Amino acid sequence: MSADNRIVLSSDHAAIPLRQAIAAHLSARGWVVVDIGPTTTESTPYPRHGEAAARLVAAGDCRLGIVLCGTGQGIMLAANKVKGIRCGVCADTFSARMLRQHNDANMLALGARIVGEGLALDIVDAFLDAEFEGGRHATRVDMITALEG
Ligand code: RB5
Repeated sequence: MSADNRIVLSSDHAAIPLRQAIAAHLSARGWVVVDIGPTTTESTPYPRHGEAAARLVAAGDCRLGIVLCGTGQGIMLAANKVKGIRCGVCADTFSARMLRQHNDANMLALGARIVGEGLALDIVDAFLDAEFEGGRHATRVDMITALEG
């Protein structure tokens, strides 16, 4: 099965409604959404969910991933601990575009207590519609990868 159109979604308890809105948006855009939850609002630690999504991307099961928590920061930090993951937290569309074009990110993090649904969907679109520019940026991304040891 090709991972080309598969995107994983994950969050902690703080971001469930926004994650579900993004899932519907992505499905409407033609993505196969792998939504790995959670579905209840019971408190649940963001590192667990960041790691689970990141492992699907790192394994090649999904091409990209979007992770959410209250600020986006904690789940972004957890995702970046998985080898092969480049995840950035964005609260604006310019950063989201650059995150793909210059940093070749394979994951995006969002804060449900930071951005409203309308802006979040615009950020998601900016991230998905951008392409890595390669060239000098590839050299720099390679330097990041080399830090993984
Ligand atoms: C949970 O209350 C909160 O700490 C979490 O969603 C996130 O903001 C952490 O970075």
